This record gives sequence, structure tokens and C-alpha cells, in this order.
Amino acid sequence: MARKPLRSAHTYGKLDRDGFIHRSWMKSQGLPDDVFDGRPVIGICNTWSELTPCNAGLRDLAEHVKRGVWEAGGLPLEFPAMSLGETQMRPTAMLFRNLLAMEVEESIRGNPIDGVVLLGGCDKTTPGQLMGAASVDLPTMVVSSGPMLNGKFRGKDIGSGTDVWKFSEAVRAGEMTLADFMSAESGMSRSHGVCMTMGTASTMASLVEALGLSLPENAALPAVDGRRATLAHLTGRRIVQLVRDDVKMSAIATREAFENAILTHAAIGGSTNAVLHLIALAGRLGVTLEQEDFDRLGRDIPLLVDLMPSGRFLMEDFCYAGGVPAVFKALGSHLRGEAITVSGLTQAQIADMARCDNPEVIRTMEAPVAPSSGLWVLRGNLSPGGAVMKPSAASPELLVHTGRAVVFDSIEDYKARIDLPALDVDETCVLVLKGCGPKGYPGMPEVGNMALPAKLLAKGVRDMVRISDARMSGTAFGTVILHVNPEADAGGPLALVQDGDLISLDGPARTLTLQVSEAELARRAADPALARPASPYVRGWAKLYVDTVLQADRGCDQDFLVGSSGDAVSRESH
Ligand code: FES
Repeated sequence: MARKPLRSAHTYGKLDRDGFIHRSWMKSQGLPDDVFDGRPVIGICNTWSELTPCNAGLRDLAEHVKRGVWEAGGLPLEFPAMSLGETQMRPTAMLFRNLLAMEVEESIRGNPIDGVVLLGGCDKTTPGQLMGAASVDLPTMVVSSGPMLNGKFRGKDIGSGTDVWKFSEAVRAGEMTLADFMSAESGMSRSHGVCMTMGTASTMASLVEALGLSLPENAALPAVDGRRATLAHLTGRRIVQLVRDDVKMSAIATREAFENAILTHAAIGGSTNAVLHLIALAGRLGVTLEQEDFDRLGRDIPLLVDLMPSGRFLMEDFCYAGGVPAVFKALGSHLRGEAITVSGLTQAQIADMARCDNPEVIRTMEAPVAPSSGLWVLRGNLSPGGAVMKPSAASPELLVHTGRAVVFDSIEDYKARIDLPALDVDETCVLVLKGCGPKGYPGMPEVGNMALPAKLLAKGVRDMVRISDARMSGTAFGTVILHVNPEADAGGPLALVQDGDLISLDGPARTLTLQVSEAELARRAADPALARPASPYVRGWAKLYVDTVLQADRGCDQDFLVGSSGDAVSRESH
């Protein structure tokens, strides 16, 4: 059967004025005539940036991808995409995930590319790139930055993020000196690469493997391990073949693949942020995916990986133990094994070839780290559109709890008052934070794991129930209820909570209840003095974002970006 012409042939295959223009300017980069002979053109979408230290190794990895593309008879062309450094960007990198997605989508569609390799790593770069690529739907593969080396402090391993939260609470509780705190800062991040806990970046890299969109071992190989460069090289070879075989992203990232991602998410104790990112990605691909899918599919999956923040070890240990393929093997018959991957293998074949070399780090279904992991989706009159919590990171004794609300109207209000000695709070209270949802902040920052009041820390309290419309860092922990939907600034009942209201969490029953009568809630809703402030954003991306962003149950995509426009471009440029 004759192959369908490549997309790039429309640009480089013409022997006329337009073809001259398209080729001539490219030849200024030293490309000879014969690279325009109809070979697959592979875009390498690179989020390298010195402002995103997690992605600092991607410039080198791009060269390894190129080697593989050349070797397989393709033409590699690297292009940049907006980079979102989680630790650097304000007000929050999440505000720009969809902007990155839009840039990636238009860059791929507008250029003569037949297939694309996405180079990303830091939290929002992976989902942003995937969402953009999904809305074009070319053959697509991912090479992630890879995790940093394990952090070290005083002879012990310390984990990105997770130990920052612990150390800062220890300083506030008077258990750690500021000098020690500063010393730990230098030992935590010892190489480029993403956070080496099972935070959002490593969660998303693991889910990329589970979706079948990368070669095996993409998630866990350390950023500085030579085998990551090899994986990049092999990816370059493989993407050329995917173009020749016309295997589009949508043929790999099917509903079955998303189910594998959810099962893997439960087994690794993945970040709560993944719920938003997978739902948004599914929306681009036309795959039906709901918040409850995480709860339902993850319910029978125990926590198999003993990694911070839910456990003890770090990503280097995970790599040496066997990485994501060993988790697939441990999942056994739960895995949707027939799902195909960009490697050409099914997930069952990848699982068959895997081995676990450290049963302390990657456990079995029979002897897991914890009996049930996954995420809980809570509903009730406080979260009619759902809220999520991560039971593996919570205190078991708080999973069923009723407490008096201590309310903060904004994160600034929280910061101003949380440590006041006069704050009326004890360890049975429920901390409530408003104004941190997608519209309200805007961009839904990672502030949901509010630090506890200093006076309670000094008493030895280490966890309380906390509720907000915010997100939480994937490296954080605690009995933290997130993504309350609708958010306070989208008319959600969270806006109506007042100090002293009783709030009941029943995790096993999946309910979150504000113990206030409907009549009283209606009275509060009608009181203009209690109305939320109007958004101050009146121009630019932030205004467009606030006006069109969807709530957490739709993954916080923009309403006008859901779905795909395919790869067709109907008009010429000259
Ligand atoms: Fe970039 Fe954690 S800050 S991966």
C-alpha cells in the first residue's frame, strides 16, 4: 500500500517559488539539498531554560535525540517552548500551563513537522507540552529531564520539597537552627533534574510511561545518568519509525492508557496535581475521564512504592529498584497489558521484561507499603463539584473528623494571622483557606498544605485537617483537602464558610459537609458584605485565563482549548 505523503512534503517537496522560500532559508543553517528529499521532519520541542533548573539538562539531551533522528534517516529541527520553573515563577507556574500548551500546539501545527519529541520535566512543562501536542495529534514521544541525584544532609538522604516543609516547620517549632536550615539548602539540590521525591514532576514522568508515550524507564533514570542520554538517542530513532508507520498520539493515549496512568498513579502514591493534568489532557484527546475514575480505579491498588512524600526513599532508589516497568510487573493483572506504547511493545511485554531489584522500594501487591492508596474524591454541600485528598499522605486518625472552622479569606490573610498567639485555634480545628482557586488567585497555587500555627507546632502537633480551593505541591503531605469545587471565587459554598462553623470530613464515606443550615447559607450568599472581591486582572493573559478557565473537575483547561484542531493548515504563508 502506498504511504500517505508526509505533512512536511507540502512545504519542502515543492519545486516552485514556495518550495524555494521554504528550503532556501533553512539551508542558511548548513543543511544540504538532500535532507529535503522527503524524509520525516522531527520537531524537538525543548523547554530548556536557566530559569527552570529542573530542565537544565535538556539542551544536551536534545543533541542525543538529534543523533537518533539523523541515524534513522529523519531531519531533526529543535524549537523552544515557554519554560515554567516551578520554584521561580510567580504568582504560580500553573497560571501558565495552558499558555505553554497553546504555544506548543501552534508551534507544531504551524511548522512543517511530521512528528515531535517533547523535552520537559519540571511540573507544568510536561502536561503543558502534552496538552498542546494532543490538540495537533502527530506521532509524539516524550523525553523527560529525569530526577536530580538524591539530596544529602549530615549523611542522610533528604528529599526535594518534602524535607523543606519538614525543616521549615522544625525551625518554627525551635527544633532546628537557622544555620542548619541554610546548610540543608545546599545539600538538597546536587545536580540538574527534577525534584527527586515522587512529586508532580516524577509523577507526570511516570504517567507518561504509563500512557505509553515514552520509552521504558523514562521516569526514573537520574538526569545525569548516561543511560538517559541513551534513552534520548533511542527516542530519536524511534520517532522516525512512528512517523513512517503513522502512529499518532491519539492511537497510544487511549482510555485504556489513561486507566494504566491512574493505576500507576495509585501504586506510586502520585501527586494530587496529576488529577488536573490527566483530565485536561484527556479533554484534548476526546477521552472521557472523571475525577471519580481516580477514586474508583485506584481503590484496589495498594501503595507499592516507598517513596517520599508518602514513604521513605527517593527517585535514585526507585531507578535502581527497577523503576516504572517494575511497578507494572507488580500491578500484575490490574495493568491494561494490551495497551500499546510508542516503543512498539505492549505494556504487558514491558512488564514481562521488568525486574525488581529492591523489594524494600518497590513492593508487591501482597506486601505493600500501605493497603490502599490512590486519591479520594469528596463530595457534599461544601464541594458539590468534588474535592480531592491523598489518604497515603494523611494522618489515619484524621480521616474521619469534625472540627471548628478557622477561616482565612486569602493566603495573605493566612500569612498575617496564622502565628498570632491570639489566634483562636487548637489541633481539633479545621483550617479553611479561600481565594486560591484557578480564577481567584489566579492559577490555583500550591498553598493548600498550609503550615500549622506555630503555637501548635511548639506543642508537638504535626497535622490538622486543612481545606482549600488551592492545589498542593506533589512533595507535600498531611490531611489536606484540595481542589474544592466550585472555588470560592466561582460562587462555590467555600466562600460562605465562617469562623466557628463545624465541618465534617468522612474520608471512607467520601463526604465533606459544612454543618450549617441551607437557610443560613442562603442568607450569607445574599449578603453583599460577604461577597468575594472582583478580580483585579483587567488585561493580558491573566484576564483571558480568569475569564475562561474551567474548574478542577475539567482539569483547569481554558474552555476554548478543550479538544483538538488536528494538524491541517488550510492557508499558505505566501
Ligand atoms: Fe521543578 Fe520540582 S521544582 S520539578
